[in-house]
Parts: sequence; C-alpha cells; structure tokens
Amino acid sequence: MDDAAALLAHARRLQRPLQEKDLALPLSAQVQQRFAGLLDRRIHARVPAVYLTHRCWFAGLPMYIDERVLIPRSPIAELIGQRFAPWVQPETVRRVVDLGTGSGCIALACAKAFPAARVDAVDISPDALAVARINRAALGLTRRVRLVKSDFFQALQGCRYDIIVSNPPYVGTAEFNGLPAEYGHEPAAALRAGRDGMDAVRVLLREAPLHLSENGVLIVEVGNTETRVRRAFPRLPFVWLSFARGGGGVFLLTAAALRAAGARQLRS
Ligand SMILES: C[S@@+](CC[C@H](N)C(=O)[O-])C[C@H]1O[C@@H](n2cnc3c(N)ncnc32)[C@H](O)[C@@H]1O
Repeated sequence: MDDAAALLAHARRLQRPLQEKDLALPLSAQVQQRFAGLLDRRIHARVPAVYLTHRCWFAGLPMYIDERVLIPRSPIAELIGQRFAPWVQPETVRRVVDLGTGSGCIALACAKAFPAARVDAVDISPDALAVARINRAALGLTRRVRLVKSDFFQALQGCRYDIIVSNPPYVGTAEFNGLPAEYGHEPAAALRAGRDGMDAVRVLLREAPLHLSENGVLIVEVGNTETRVRRAFPRLPFVWLSFARGGGGVFLLTAAALRAAGARQLRS
C-alpha cells in the first residue's frame, strides 16, 4: 500500500506524499501509463519502490537514492533525532565519523544534529560516495561533511572522533542467500560481511579505540547478527539500544569501556 502510494505520487510528478484528496482526481492516460510501468517493475522485477522514485526520507531529511547505495532504513535515525542522549553531550561534539556511509544519510543527519561538528563520511565504494556527494550538495553541507574513500579506518590515521557511528555490512552467507529478491537490487557489498556476517564489526571493534576521543562513543548497527556478536565478545559491556519506532541490533560502547576491555577482548 505504501509502495503503491509512493509510485502513484511519482507517476503524477507530485513533490509531496500522496494524500487522500489526490485519489478523487482523474488520472490522465500518460499518468496511467507511467503508473502501470512503475507497478510492473515493482511487482515483476521486484525493484524496491525507492529505487523507482529515487526519493526517501531519513531523520527528516530528503535523500536522493539509486541502486549504487543501500536504501536508508537504519534505526540509528531515531538516535540521531535524540542527539544520542543520554550518551553524548551535544555541545561537546566536534568530530563525527560515519563508517560505510552509503547515501550519506547517517553522516548528513549527524551534521544537521550537531551544527558545530565536522563529519567524515567514509565508504570504500566510489559509487556510493558519488550518491553521498549529491545528497551533501542538496542539503548544503559541503563545508562541514568530508567524503573519504577508505577501507573503514585505513585513510583516517591519526584522526579522533567524539562519535564513531556505523551501519556496516552485517549479513552472513546463509542469511544473504535467503533474502527476498528485492535485496538483490541493493549493492551486495553493502550487505555481505563474510560467512558469519561479522567481518566488518570485528574491524570496527579492533580499531575504534585508536580513533575515539577521551569521552567518545562507538555506535554500530549489527541487526540480526546481534546474537553472534554477543557470543563472540562475551566480556564486552555492550549497551544494546532500544527504539520507540522499531528496529534493534544497535550497540553502543564508550571509549572508557573499550579502553577497560583491552585489546584481547576486542578480538574474536
Ligand atoms: C549497510 S550499508 C549502510 C549505508 C548507509 N550508512 C545506511 O545506513 O543506509 C554499508 C555501507 O558500507 C560500505 N562498506 C562496505 N565495506 C566497507 C569497507 N571495508 N570500508 C568502508 N565502507 C565499506 C558499503 O559500500 C555500504 O555503502
């Protein structure tokens, strides 16, 4: 139903969501043809609606999206809306990094939420960074958000952050093979993270302590891989965050907790 409404709004070239009153208006032959074409691609080619409309919202911000990037859906949007309270003192935040930025959604929303901060938006995929560049320009954030092509922390030697946030790939092989056809339109590199889905989170846990400021925090989404992460790092004092708007599988670790854990606990 939501998809049909979004596709109809797109076929009608509306610059806003479809409203009830729009349903009473007749559709021109041209609009009918466009709508039928969109429905066909959604139903038969199983293309997600956002890849057809190229529009979605994240943390209240409009985002341009195409098949070079994951469709934004991270529950981290809700945390950004709360400026990561109570874990972060917003006025102290000067540097933020978003690892695996994709469309730039998390990085750009953080830049809006923390107006005094500079934000690094990191991705290994030049295609993803091209989409992030479009969104950064559209939101007027070119001055404060730096796009960095890097394998996670590799190009960030010597950089320290008050917030390290990431929605990295975290889908294991078995889970990936069972995903609905719609996911096949998303870049596989945005989803897959080795056999057990933990390749990325292992790197983030190992290297984050070198890049966090004294009172910094690490926030990582691992989705359904939460159980494996808990088992693999039994001594880490993860705080698993809760969400009013749904979603889960997001942990937070403070720099102090990571320091106290020591390097051995950060390897699995
Ligand atoms: C799950 S998507 C998240 C995209 C976006 N942050 C979001 O929440 O919609 C993961 C992103 O990580 C990127 N990525 C995968 N491996 C990476 C690596 N080794 N270093 C940096 N980025 C990587 C992918 O290209 C993809 O854009």
